[in-house]
Amino acid sequence: MRIWLSFLILAATVWFGASAFRPKNATTFAVSEETPVAEVLEKLGDRPLPHKPNLMLKGVSAEAGYEIVHFGSTTGPDGQRTTKQSPHFVCTSCHNMVREDPDLAVADPEARLDYCVERGIPFLPGTTMYGVVNRTSFYNGDYEKKYGDLVYRARHDLREAIQLCAIACSQGRRLEPWELESVLAYFWTLQLKMGDLNLSENEWQQITSALNAGRPSGKAVELIKSHYLQASPATFVPPPDDRRLGYALKGDPERGGQLYQQSCLHCHYNKRYSFFALDYDPRTFAFLAKHIPRYTRYSIYQVIRWGTEPIPGKRAYMPNFTLEKMSHQQVEDLRAFIEQQAQLR
Ligand code: HEC
Ligand code: HEC
Repeated sequence: MRIWLSFLILAATVWFGASAFRPKNATTFAVSEETPVAEVLEKLGDRPLPHKPNLMLKGVSAEAGYEIVHFGSTTGPDGQRTTKQSPHFVCTSCHNMVREDPDLAVADPEARLDYCVERGIPFLPGTTMYGVVNRTSFYNGDYEKKYGDLVYRARHDLREAIQLCAIACSQGRRLEPWELESVLAYFWTLQLKMGDLNLSENEWQQITSALNAGRPSGKAVELIKSHYLQASPATFVPPPDDRRLGYALKGDPERGGQLYQQSCLHCHYNKRYSFFALDYDPRTFAFLAKHIPRYTRYSIYQVIRWGTEPIPGKRAYMPNFTLEKMSHQQVEDLRAFIEQQAQLR
């Protein structure tokens, strides 16, 4: 009996002793290339992202969101086809839904163009929705400065950012609550994965050991966040003062040709999203080339840097390209291409 008792005491001591040395919540959380970044951040004690979709609402699904974003309409909870969100555009006129940058920590249009050309992805004025749910601030930089009140509600609220774009960018109607939640649900399928972050071997190890320690780790959170932008920066720049001189950089017609194809033609070929047609016809290049040095709405400097005037709800307009979406060098590359094509034929 006594032996039995002391064995019990011994076992209990060992058990308590061991558990005292074991850190709390030490579940081994396996992290792979496919693990969502948001999940890892939450495990490391970061505040959960606020814009999870409400899937309880009738009609909400990621599939419906996909259709709204890509085609402008979907089938509603009543089984009826919805009216198009916008008569002019779909979200994919201006935004990619796939990754578009080789390094998610910088907004570099030169590197982006290479990445897009390699994969046949359009080069657009809006930021990709891939990873939009991982961002915490929207319409940043000069969008905030120039449009102040208009973007105020959308600054830290993805739902409001989507609604603002539906009306102001897309020139269409507001989304119904179930449509909005569906778009959100779809965007969550595009969230960043750990494999997107280009982590070094050493950084993987730091993150894994922070996870295994089972305690919040601000350091690991910071490390992860240093590998992607939580806000897409935006700098508005004017056309060059002297349009004959341009930005005074030597353009590379080959890169200009890539840009023409991945960007301009995405919206203008066959008047896809615009009444103004662009193509490879020599007359088109002659027309564009003639207007480059002029102070008209057909000058590429003017449309690229200022866009065209939107008449709310009335017609399509061209969004301006910020410095993060097209560098001065790229504008000159495009000019070199257009002038080369105009002269060649
Ligand atoms: C005519 C072009 C255009 C269309 C169409 C358009 N957008 Fe945008 N959108 C923009 C531009 C330009 C911005 C400015 C900020 C950025 O994306 O860099 C923007 C910003 C956004 C943002 C904030 C992104 C950020 O990180 O700041 C969201 C979210 C968004 N749009 C969603 C949508 C959705 C959803 C649709 C379709 C219903 C849509 N947009 C249609 C051009 C457009
Ligand atoms: C996101 C779609 C989109 C992209 C990308 C785009 N445009 Fe446009 N562009 C438009 C729309 C919409 C208009 C408005 C005029 C219309 O619909 O007739 C327009 C207008 C123009 C106009 C003025 C026409 C007029 O009637 O006032 C020119 C010139 C032009 N674009 C050239 C370009 C060039 C060059 C590029 C490539 C750098 C480009 N666009 C990229 C959508 C786009």
